[in-house]
Amino acid sequence: PRVVILISGGGSNMTAIADQVSAGMIDAEVAAVICNNPEAAGLQKARDRNIPTDVVDHRQFASREDFDRALMASIDSFEPDLVVLAGFMRILTAEFVNRYEGHMINIHPSLLPKYQGLHTHQRAIDACDTQHGVTVHFVTEVLDDGPNIIQAVVPIFDGDDAATLQKRVQQQEHVIFPIAVKWFVEGRLRMVKNAAELDGNKL
Ligand code: GRF
Repeated sequence: PRVVILISGGGSNMTAIADQVSAGMIDAEVAAVICNNPEAAGLQKARDRNIPTDVVDHRQFASREDFDRALMASIDSFEPDLVVLAGFMRILTAEFVNRYEGHMINIHPSLLPKYQGLHTHQRAIDACDTQHGVTVHFVTEVLDDGPNIIQAVVPIFDGDDAATLQKRVQQQEHVIFPIAVKWFVEGRLRMVKNAAELDGNKL
């Protein structure tokens, strides 16, 4: 199976997945890494791994729709079985989501449905939560709201700030995202009527 990974920044989740693929833990090929930011550090990490890259710079497009259409054209040129949003910081149009629904997953740094949107670590600290975490989910039209696939929970300690908490969460991102990719490319994970199923059992 062919996986296309979309990034906007450092690409640490992309490298976690790519390294599991090259270690033979995931029976797939990272067909391409596509980025909306020409300066993103993750592009160099992909090139270091001889993964084809493409930049679709959202600033070059007059509208969100034009950007999404260019992005779809790039994605489709690599013929993916799975599209992975790994720190991809663009809100996608319904046309885009509908095209890949059931074949597109995202990682969000909170225990969804808690803390959709941005600044999730600070919000958890401000709420005096004692636990926080990260969710991999199927992407649907509602932002940060598709069927959950896998979550990891981390403790929040008294001395935490957003940076220390984000670091603890990101360590778990690099564990659960490759697992979700593995399940999907092995045909064990699928999205059925807006629910995630693993081995035929609803998650
Ligand atoms: C991740 O920490 C994830 O929680 C959020 O954006 C970040 C991307 O990091 N979606 P990276 O680009 O994968 O290093």
